Amino acid sequence: MVQLSLPKNSRVQSGKHWPAPAGAKNVRSFKIYRYDPETGMNPRWDTYDVDVDACGPMVLDALLYIKNTIDPTLAFRRSCREGVCGSCAMNIGGRNTLACTHGHGEVPGKAVQISPLPHAPVVKDLIPDLTLFYAQYASIEPWLHTTTPEPQKEWRQAPEDREKLDGLYECILCACCSTSCPSYWWNGEKYLGPAALLHAYRWLIDSRDEATGERLDDLEDPFKLYRCHTIMNCAQVCPKGLNPAKAIASIKKMLVERVV
Ligand code: SF4
Ligand code: SF4
Ligand code: FES
Repeated sequence: MVQLSLPKNSRVQSGKHWPAPAGAKNVRSFKIYRYDPETGMNPRWDTYDVDVDACGPMVLDALLYIKNTIDPTLAFRRSCREGVCGSCAMNIGGRNTLACTHGHGEVPGKAVQISPLPHAPVVKDLIPDLTLFYAQYASIEPWLHTTTPEPQKEWRQAPEDREKLDGLYECILCACCSTSCPSYWWNGEKYLGPAALLHAYRWLIDSRDEATGERLDDLEDPFKLYRCHTIMNCAQVCPKGLNPAKAIASIKKMLVERVV
C-alpha cells in the first residue's frame, strides 16, 4: 500500500471526540482531518464514533452519516456516489482513493483515518484546492486538433483505432494519482503529473488528431514530462485501474522514435 503524508500545512492536534449514541452495538471510530484556513484554526483530528449498522458500507456513507446526524460543519466533496465524477477523492487509511467506492470495512486498523489528498492546499477539511491540477489538464489541450475541413457528419474512427484509447479515456480526473506522486509533490508547479500526461497521451494517439508533432514539441521539456521517475504510485492508487506511468513511458518512446 502507498502510504502518503498529510497536507503540507499539517501540525495536526487532537480535536473533538463525538462518542457513539447509547445502545450502538457495532461502533467504528472515524478520525478525520479538520482545517479551515479562513477562520485561522489550527489543523486537528476530530474523532467520530459511528454506529456502522446505521449507515451504508462505503466511507462516503459514513461521512454523510456524520454530516447529517453528528456534525454538519464537516466539509467534503461528492456528487455521483458511483465512482464516476471523481469529486470524493481523499486519503483513506493512508491511501488516495474514492470515498464512494471504498468500504470502511476494508480499511485496516482500529480507526478509519481520513485526510484530504496530500500535498495540495486545503480549502476546508477534506476539500483540496485542485486549481493547479485542472490548469495542467487544460494545458495539454484535451480536445481534437484538426487541419482538414470538418466532415459533414462526424470525425470517423476505425474500431481498432478507437480501442487504442481504452485504458485512457476512463480517467475521471480524481487527482488520486498526481497527489500520490513524489515527483509531483516536489515539482508540482512545473511537472504536469500523471493525470495530465495520461490525457496528453490519449490525444497523441487519437487517430483523428492532426497535431501530434505540436503536442510532442510542447511536452519535450525537462520538467513537464521528464520528472517522472517510474515510481509507480500513480498506477497503484488509481481507483479506475489505469496506468498513467505506462502512458508516460509511451510518450517518452514517441519522442525518442521521432528523432531517430
Ligand atoms: S510513475 Fe511517474 S507519474 Fe507515476 S508516481 Fe511515479 S514518478 Fe509519478
Ligand atoms: S488516472 Fe486514475 S487516479 Fe489519475 S486522475 Fe485519472 S482516474 Fe484518477
Ligand atoms: S462521489 Fe463521484 S466518484 Fe465518488
